[in-house]
Amino acid sequence: MPLVIAIDGPAASGKGTLARRLAVHFGLPHLDTGLLYRAVALLMLDAGIDLGDANEAARTASSLVADQLADPRLRERAMGEAASRVSGIPDVRAALLSWQRRFASDEAGAVLDGRDIGTVICPDARVKLFITASPEERARRRHRELTGRGEETTLAAILSDIRARDERDSSRSAAPLKAAEDAVIIDTTELDADEAFAAARHVVERAREH
Ligand code: CDP
Ligand code: CDP
Repeated sequence: MPLVIAIDGPAASGKGTLARRLAVHFGLPHLDTGLLYRAVALLMLDAGIDLGDANEAARTASSLVADQLADPRLRERAMGEAASRVSGIPDVRAALLSWQRRFASDEAGAVLDGRDIGTVICPDARVKLFITASPEERARRRHRELTGRGEETTLAAILSDIRARDERDSSRSAAPLKAAEDAVIIDTTELDADEAFAAARHVVERAREH
């Protein structure tokens, strides 16, 4: 039976880092689904289209190709915010659904991380993890990451971004951020990346035995 691992959680909870490590450890392909929403936003901004234009957003999402996920600008701070705006548009989510399902149908399985993987994209995933941490700790992590890449920003600005994005992602009606009922919740506030990986690996190994 394929090993599909669904990982969800708020911004900078460490879900991407964890997903990459689990994918390497278990020899599975990995998709960072946040990149899809970031790419839709970037393509729209580059074309001078307003991010609130739902028709254009859906059209952009349905014409997205894999090469467009490699642009380094997708990782910039402003793109997380822009992605969060287009991700609330139901037709954008619908256009990206089949892409994600196709990725998850690899015969070995797959690791996907995002906001709605365990609830909407892969409701039958063998393992569902919900990764979280306090907003302050997540802001510290994201600040370290962005300043390390040379982006000029303050901790206060990032904390305010994170709170706004948590609120928007959790309160939208289309696939809001929430833990699936059968997800294992891992709070990483007090865990470093190695400890979070050890906890998650244990959950996956236990699920494989059953
Ligand atoms: O890395 P970080 O958590 O900051 O952001 P991301 O995972 O790249 O996601 C950027 C935005 O895309 C999120 O704030 C969500 O609004 C949206 N997103 C989503 O709606 N569903 C997903 N499966 C993944 C991302
Ligand atoms: O994908 P998401 O936005 O949830 O977070 P990330 O980009 O994987 O992680 C943000 C930063 O937190 C990275 O620099 C990680 O090294 C660090 N970190 C982590 O991933 N896990 C921890 N338990 C602690 C820190």
